[in-house]
Amino acid sequence: MRTVSDAPSLRAAVRSWRNEGQRIGFVPTMGNLHAGHYALIELARKHADRVVASVFVNPTQFGPGEDFARYPRTLAQDSVGLAEHQCDLLFAPDVETMYPFGPEHAIRIHVPEITDTLEGAHRPGHFDGVATVVAKLFTLVAPDLAVFGRKDWQQLLVVRRLVRELVLPVEILDAPTVREPDGLAMSSRNQYLDTAQRSAAPQMHATLEWMREAFAEGHKREAIERVAWQRLERAGFVPDYVVIRRARDLALPGEDDREKLLALAAARLGATRLIDNLPFD
Ligand code: PAF
Repeated sequence: MRTVSDAPSLRAAVRSWRNEGQRIGFVPTMGNLHAGHYALIELARKHADRVVASVFVNPTQFGPGEDFARYPRTLAQDSVGLAEHQCDLLFAPDVETMYPFGPEHAIRIHVPEITDTLEGAHRPGHFDGVATVVAKLFTLVAPDLAVFGRKDWQQLLVVRRLVRELVLPVEILDAPTVREPDGLAMSSRNQYLDTAQRSAAPQMHATLEWMREAFAEGHKREAIERVAWQRLERAGFVPDYVVIRRARDLALPGEDDREKLLALAAARLGATRLIDNLPFD
């Protein structure tokens, strides 16, 4: 696996593969890679001849007081893991390459509507940062397809909207959430948890599963959300939201909605903010 950090080297490598008629798959990440990320690489591999991954801790998607400064940066270890998972090229740019005028002066892409709720409401500006960096990365890598995890469901919807709106020739694939044996969704932020928080953390997934069951049994959405909130609080979480929404646009489900639904939650355990979701059958 080659590692490049500048745009001309990245473009030259991708161009040579494209000239040979090869299909390029792309997995954007912020590093500190775990089995969830490697599952994205493996899915890209199934659909493409070459796989490019990026590692870039994107400053514009972190709000003031969030964990940008302490976000784990483990490039050497990530690069070993990516090579082991048959990634062909690692793009690891610095901030100047991605934001030549500085992050605070960057052009920002705002994806409307879908970003007004849930993560967007609790992390103002977060999805502008995500949409901006994803658009830049797509422009740099020019992949045929890109893979995103379903754990960040709202991000996936934002990226799909971005691609349609900017008419980007990139197919978006989504990969299932990878979980620890006790149900906790894998996340780079799990390593912030102390021992007591780590043993409470699977309660988020357990609560989402309980919501799915309660809904299947015919209980009302509002009542389920209220009890789920209390369950999270009892487990030591401070919830931002725990809700049932339509999967395709995160709108409130109507009575007898035949649409696909999912439960989504975001909550803090101490200083660590965890998110997760669970589709209903
Ligand atoms: O999901 C992530 O790790 C990030 O939001 C992404 C898509 C790499 C953009 O920085």
